[in-house]
Formats: sequence, C-alpha cells, structure tokens
Amino acid sequence: MPAPDQHRLIFAHIDEPGYSHDLACYQKHGGYAVMKRAFARKPEELIDEVKRSGLRGRGGAGFPCGVKWSLVDRKSGKPIYLIVNADESEPGTFKDRYIIHQDPHQLLEGTLIACFANNVKQAYIYIRGEMPLGARILEKAIAEARAANLVGPNILGTSYSCEIYVHRGAGAYICGEETGLIESLEGKRANPRIKPPYFPAVLGLYQCPTIVNNVETLCHVKHIADMGGEAYTKIGTPNNTGTRIFCVSGHVQRPGYYEFEAGKITLGQLLYEVCGGPLPGRAFKAVIPGGSSAKILRFGERFKGKRKVGAELVDYDWGVEDVPMDFDSLGMIGTMGGSGGVIVMDDSVNMVEALANINAFYAHESCGQCTPCREGSLWMKKITTRMVHGTARAEDAALLKSVADQIPGRTICAFGEACSWPTQSFLAKFGDEFKNYSETKQGSPAPATLI
Ligand SMILES: Cc1cc2nc3c(=O)[nH]c(=O)nc-3n(C[C@H](O)[C@H](O)[C@H](O)COP(=O)(O)O)c2cc1C
Ligand code: SF4
Repeated sequence: MPAPDQHRLIFAHIDEPGYSHDLACYQKHGGYAVMKRAFARKPEELIDEVKRSGLRGRGGAGFPCGVKWSLVDRKSGKPIYLIVNADESEPGTFKDRYIIHQDPHQLLEGTLIACFANNVKQAYIYIRGEMPLGARILEKAIAEARAANLVGPNILGTSYSCEIYVHRGAGAYICGEETGLIESLEGKRANPRIKPPYFPAVLGLYQCPTIVNNVETLCHVKHIADMGGEAYTKIGTPNNTGTRIFCVSGHVQRPGYYEFEAGKITLGQLLYEVCGGPLPGRAFKAVIPGGSSAKILRFGERFKGKRKVGAELVDYDWGVEDVPMDFDSLGMIGTMGGSGGVIVMDDSVNMVEALANINAFYAHESCGQCTPCREGSLWMKKITTRMVHGTARAEDAALLKSVADQIPGRTICAFGEACSWPTQSFLAKFGDEFKNYSETKQGSPAPATLI
C-alpha cells in the first residue's frame, strides 16, 4: 500500500521563506487569531477541549495532556506555573528545535492558550544550552509579541496578563526530565526529584503547582483550540490522535522531518517510500523508532499478538516494516514512539560499536544520585568499550546483560530505564555479535566517537 500524504498541522507553514520569525509574517496566516477567540471562552472549556482531543504529550511518555492539566492543584492558593520543555536532548530528536527556529510564534500562541486555560500568569521556556540561536529567536519573538500587546499585562485589552521568560540550560540531558528541569530552573544542579511527593502538578517550581509540556505538545494545543477537541480526534487513530512529527536520521536516502497522522503510516512506508529506502548497495539492519532510549528493532523479526480495533480483538502478525507509527502499536512490539526520533542503521553498522557509543552518552549524562544508574551506566560503557577495544572478557556479554537488568525500577527517575533499554534490546536482538566480541576478543583501536 502506498504511503499516505503528509498531514502538516504543526509544519503547515514551516518551510515558507521568511516564515515566521517575525510577527507580521505569522499574522498574515491568521497568527494569534485562535488565541483571541480562545480568550473569549471560559478556561474550563479549553481544558475540556484538550481532554476531548485525546492529545498525548510529544515529549516522550505520551501522557494525555488534558489529564495532566486536570491533575493541577488549583486549590492551594499558590500561583500555577507553566514550563515549556525545550531541552530536546534525546539523541535522534530534532523537531522542537526546528519549530523554534522556523515558527516561534506558533509555540508562543499555543503556550499562551495553555496558560490562559490553566490560569497561569508566568511561563518559562526552558531551552537547552546548545541551542543559542533558538533562544535568541524566542527572545525576539517574545519582544515582538509584547510590543503588540500579545504577551504581558492585559493581553489584547482583556483582564488577563501573562509573562513568558526564556531560560537557557547549561546543556545536560537530565535537564529534560521534568523535575530535574525544575531544579535547574530554580538555579540548582538538575537532580531529579523523588515522586511522590514532588509531582509537578502539586509541588513543582518553587513548590507551586506546575505544568511541564513539550514544545510540540503546546503547538498542538493551538490547533485544538482552533478546530475543537472533537474535530482533532478525527485526525490520526483512536487513542493516538492528531499528527506526529518524525525526525528520521541515519542510513536512509532522504533523512529529515516528516509529519503524518498518528498511526496512519507504517515504519516500512516511512523508511522505504518517504525516506527513499537504504543507501545504494545497502540493506536496513536495525531501527530505533523513538529516540536513543527506545528499544531497537531488528529487520527480519516478527511480532504476533492480539490488538484492539474498535471493540474487537484482532490478530496481528507484523514484520518491522508493518508496524503502524503510533504510541500503542510501538508499545505492543516492546519499544516506544517516544520523542519521534527514528534512527536507522544499515548493514554497515557494527552493533557493538553502536551500543558503545550510546552507552558512552548515558554514562556521561547520569546525574549520579542513584547508585544503580550512576554505577550501572558506567559499567555498561566500560564493558562495551572494552569489547570495541578488543580487550573483552569471555563473560562480558552475560555481565553486560546482568548490569542492564539490575537498573530499571530501582532509580529516582526514568533515566534508569532509558539507559538500560538500549543495552537490553541490543543484546536481545543482536546477541551473537556481542558474544562473538566477548569470546574472540575482536575489536580494534577505539573509534573516534569513543576517544
Ligand atoms: C531522562 C529524561 C529526559 C527527558 N528529556 C526530555 C526532553 O528533552 N524534552 C521533553 O519534552 N521531555 C523530556 N522528557 C520527558 C519530561 O520529563 C516530561 O515528561 C515532558 O516534558 C512532558 O511533556 P509532554 O507531556 O508534553 O510530553 C525526559 C524524560 C526523561 C526521563
Ligand atoms: S536515575 Fe540516574 S539520572 Fe535519574 S536521578 Fe537517578 S542517577 Fe540521576
């Protein structure tokens, strides 16, 4: 079956020359008209629209946005804050940066609607340190919006006031984890907080109720306010509504950003048709479908089971190519849609070297609070590095598995899972390559990526 056409909701104008770093250009396409209409409604109605839309967070976990908003403690009498998570440090993910660079006013409009709906008077955009251009673009966009009375006191002559501040991180993966981010925003080291009690909806920034949403999620809010929650559910598939942006990188002919209705395109259609297939003379070997912490898939493996279609349970028997690109389908085959970062590897890739590279990243980024994560991520790096160097021990493949299996569920934050899933899945899918390395002491001087 041919791949569907892209459905560009967030990217509707993104490639237009000059669009929309400046306000005039954004307003030519109806910019801020949706916000104006939204401000004439009751905030609760907007929250209901978002609930009805079924919007799931695009930052990684796919948590329903309307449910998150309804968990906010509105009785405490404290201010409610909103934080835009623009840390985007999951390897393989580069959609939020593109939105910020090309269409910052779309993000501001979505953020302001979310703030109005939740009675937020102060919002922060936490942007990772390595994105200085994005930070400057956002600061300029906020200044323009302020000058046009779209941000600040008495927006558009209403009684509603809201300030948006840009906060630059110093550049650490763990600052993307929402409670680590909050610590960092408070000026401290980004050590994730223990939940409970520190659920941001109750005890977030400055111990006040706080909403943390991803950049792309907040852009969707603008479109939901525009078309209504019910109409939004008609895009995508049940429980996976709206569009998804995929950032495809690695060994395909046409890597890049693509936006499709969630669940309406398979992984095979995306990689072979949309991205042009493998490089000349090569074949696909593996793919990580949702950012580097998502479990890897091996081309050639099959997945069987039952899934719900409407009210019925139907059998599925999928190859990697057949899997629909949505949170639930990818979850059913043991991986995740995560952040939408699709990393493709062809048959030139040595899986031991690939995992050593990923493990080096996670060992570097662990905040170090929890022993299983701090020590485990380092051990996984050490073992895969000595495999790559040809100094592995016979028992190393088994040791690697044992270390990875002991981390998940024993840590403060989900980094513990994120750092062990690559090792667990690489070993499960490409165990022979690792066993070979351990037993025969293959390997060569360290590749540049490891030095
Ligand atoms: C280690 C780790 C890193 C994360 N990095 C990011 C990130 O860079 N950007 C992001 O939006 N969410 C990231 N998240 C998820 C956030 O904690 C949070 O769930 C998300 O920002 C919520 O937004 P959403 O509901 O709109 O998806 C990360 C989570 C973990 C555990
Ligand atoms: S799991 Fe890792 S990153 Fe998360 S708090 Fe513990 S040590 Fe830090």
